[in-house]
Amino acid sequence: MVSFILNGQIHSVNHVLPETTVLDYLRETLGRTGTKEGCASGDCGACTVVIAEAQEKTLKYRTSNACITLLGTLHGKQLITVENLSSDKTLHQCQQAIVNCHGSQCGFCTPGFVMSLFSHFKNYSSPDRDQLIESLGGNLCRCTGYKPILNAGVSMYENGSADKFDKNESDTIRMLKGLPKEDPNLILDTRKFCTPKSLDELADILLDQPNARLLAGGTDLGLEITQELAQPKLIVYTGSIEAMTCIEDRDHTFHIGGAATYTDVSPLLVSRWPTLGELFNRLGSVQIRNQGTIGGNVANASPIADTLPPLLALDATLTLRKGSRRRVLALKDFFIHYKVTALEKSEFIESIQIPKGDGSEYFVVYKVSKRMEDDISAVCLALRWRLYDNSLRDVRIAYGGLAEIPKRSIAAEKALEGNDFKESSIRDAMSAVSQEFSPIDDVRASAKYREKLAKNLLFRAYLAATQNKSNLRVTDYCA
Ligand SMILES: Cc1cc2nc3c(=O)[nH]c(=O)nc-3n(C[C@H](O)[C@H](O)[C@H](O)COP(=O)(O)OP(=O)(O)OC[C@H]3O[C@@H](n4cnc5c(N)ncnc54)[C@H](O)[C@@H]3O)c2cc1C
Ligand code: FES
Ligand code: FES
Repeated sequence: MVSFILNGQIHSVNHVLPETTVLDYLRETLGRTGTKEGCASGDCGACTVVIAEAQEKTLKYRTSNACITLLGTLHGKQLITVENLSSDKTLHQCQQAIVNCHGSQCGFCTPGFVMSLFSHFKNYSSPDRDQLIESLGGNLCRCTGYKPILNAGVSMYENGSADKFDKNESDTIRMLKGLPKEDPNLILDTRKFCTPKSLDELADILLDQPNARLLAGGTDLGLEITQELAQPKLIVYTGSIEAMTCIEDRDHTFHIGGAATYTDVSPLLVSRWPTLGELFNRLGSVQIRNQGTIGGNVANASPIADTLPPLLALDATLTLRKGSRRRVLALKDFFIHYKVTALEKSEFIESIQIPKGDGSEYFVVYKVSKRMEDDISAVCLALRWRLYDNSLRDVRIAYGGLAEIPKRSIAAEKALEGNDFKESSIRDAMSAVSQEFSPIDDVRASAKYREKLAKNLLFRAYLAATQNKSNLRVTDYCA
């Protein structure tokens, strides 16, 4: 039985298909049609809901795309939809602001925008236009134009930032903590959604059921369900296992559980490598980063996955587990062919280790995509080196979008390793990249453009290192 709070009440559900999405459940089972379906693929934000989780003494509010969030993941949480915001026929501050600023025309996108504004309202105590733009980056509107909606985001604070959710917070936390803990499963006939609570339990389930589908954030698996109509017999959710969501700053490494979300992981990684800031800000939208995980990005093994070039350049390793056996594998040995990895049957990614380095490395990441927000890379470069007396050492150059897997350019690394830090060395490495890769043409970029980008990004990294401008944005150079 999966139990969560909806509309101030405990809501329990048992007999539904394991792949039921929150959106379908809301609209088709409960008739709560305020939450809209636009794309059913996490792109438009019309289905945005807010999920609140109990911390020690507060609630953590995060937006989520209901269309690709599976119902079973709500166990132990509070689901807030657009129908819950007003009270006694008085609109919530964020709804009233949309009215006052004329932030809605056809209204189809409006519930999604309202929920993103609501989450912003709960997470920031004052209006800041840049933060608002980020919070709304996962919501599309085809008719109003964004200015009135942004104006609403600024003006929603005019009457203070307290609301009924603050008033009810301690009661909600008490209710959440009192929800039944046992067997948070969904079962229909022979099909099941289950939520193990420990690594051992997860490992045993996978040994017993090697064809089970693991679910972390669901931002890839959710699309298999809504776009390809996948119907897994057994879905195993990893997000309730503490060891899978942990993020630890250890002596020499950052240790990241296989189900830790981007929103949770990024502050630590960006504090160590500021160049990752732009990458994370441009990875999907806030909704996607609230759900999506680095573990899922690695396991999904897309050649254009954003975190893989930086993880390769930083010599990340994976701890893989099967039954009681653990093995540590370098990430560079994990990707075999297009979406084929070294994971064995019943094996899963338990954690990712990223060496912290000694702070003397030069490290940059560049993502080039057609659109700034919520778009996947055409090419991504991550580069790291150290300089000893003007000589380049420990060179790592990793690309996404150039091959069928995310890959280091061993030829370019060799062209630089031990050589002087000067333009001719970089030009040699650029030629090596051209020889090593044969990128493909697709909707994101032509092969020729990809090859040119790969070389020019390398040169850009050199220029930035020369001019100490490593945090320039890609657009600064493309202009
Ligand atoms: C709108 C949208 C925008 C996106 N934008 C970007 C982007 O800009 N950049 C980018 O890189 N990606 C992007 N993605 C893709 C996706 O968000 C990422 O790949 C994300 O990291 C997947 O993580 P997840 O936790 O959601 O994975 P899930 O969907 O839960 O899982 C992905 C796959 O990994 C398997 N899996 C999950 N956990 C484990 C584990 N511990 N061990 C073994 N296998 C496991 C699952 O079975 C599944 O096959 C986008 C997706 C959407 C829908
Ligand atoms: S319906 Fe478009 S993001 Fe969910
Ligand atoms: S108001 Fe029509 S899509 Fe936004």
